[in-house]
Amino acid sequence: MQILITGATGFVGRALCQHLHGQGHQLLVVSRKPDDAQASIGVPVTAARSAVDFADRQVDGVVNLAGEPIFNRRWSDSQKERLMQSRIEATRDIGQLCSRMATPPAVMVSASAMGWYGDHGSHEVTEQTPPADTRKFDHRLCQRWEEEALALAGEPMRVACIRIGLVLDRDGGMLKPMLPMFRLGLGGRVGDGRQYMPWIHRHDLVRIIDFLLQREGADGIWNAGAPNPVTNAEFTRTVAGALNRPAFFVMPAAVLRPVLGEMSELLLGGARMKPARLEEAGFTFDYPHLEQAMAAIVEGRGDRAL
Ligand SMILES: NC(=O)c1ccc[n+]([C@@H]2O[C@H](COP(=O)([O-])OP(=O)(O)OC[C@H]3O[C@@H](n4cnc5c(N)ncnc54)[C@H](OP(=O)(O)O)[C@@H]3O)[C@@H](O)[C@H]2O)c1
Repeated sequence: MQILITGATGFVGRALCQHLHGQGHQLLVVSRKPDDAQASIGVPVTAARSAVDFADRQVDGVVNLAGEPIFNRRWSDSQKERLMQSRIEATRDIGQLCSRMATPPAVMVSASAMGWYGDHGSHEVTEQTPPADTRKFDHRLCQRWEEEALALAGEPMRVACIRIGLVLDRDGGMLKPMLPMFRLGLGGRVGDGRQYMPWIHRHDLVRIIDFLLQREGADGIWNAGAPNPVTNAEFTRTVAGALNRPAFFVMPAAVLRPVLGEMSELLLGGARMKPARLEEAGFTFDYPHLEQAMAAIVEGRGDRAL
């Protein structure tokens, strides 16, 4: 297949490109720095600044991952606008591409996040669960992003949106800054530690994207988190345990809120998100438990089966 990927230079995109290249697919990538894309991805790709630049190519499938990083900086009004617009524009760019093609792609897998659900305490959350609070920025961001993506669905393109949990691997995402702290014994829980943290090993997320690209009729919303989400306290214990370090510290909510502002809610709340549709569809996780995932990551064998 010829697969077009936005956000291909990112933490998830790089692993996805390596996986898809290994399967023999040809990769067309959209990047703000097309000249640097191949070097950062590490496998052969054809890169362009806009999806529209590929209008004269055959594109069989699309994976839409691009967006301003969520934890880059405090959520000022202008940063919220950047978070929103970067995702809307990347998705509309794909719409522009489709409108210029005689034969649009058959499928698009488009990123979204667990933030769509908001804080659900200890209740289990599936794709059927409504959002906790539609006024929260993280919900509105995911909702707009999904609306833009789902608006492109139609003959012949099916669209699957993936609500991604915290993606774990050693060279990016949340673990990259966290592991050195934990190695120094400076790890600790956040707030009361009871908030749920849906997580997913990057290896399994890449497999999920591949699964949804291939699976006939897979459309709509799919939760992309491991089947065993953990609380922040369990997460902290497991990461520290994988490194054989203690994790005595506590980051109190009262300290975090003034420092991070609204963004602190991402760390202080959460959803016990279950991948109900993936399990019904027969997808099997290589890393269903956090202990296994962390052991593999710490030992540097995260990509063993990719
Ligand atoms: N990692 C996680 O834990 C996690 C969890 C839930 C959801 N997600 C979502 O999944 C997607 C992929 O995650 P990731 O961790 O791979 O993200 P990432 O490493 O931050 O990469 C995202 C890519 O988007 C592009 N990008 C960044 N800022 C942009 C901007 N202002 N305008 C347009 N493009 C921009 C960049 O590509 P170029 O520089 O090449 O243009 C970048 O490589 C993201 O949209 C993220 O929100 C991630």
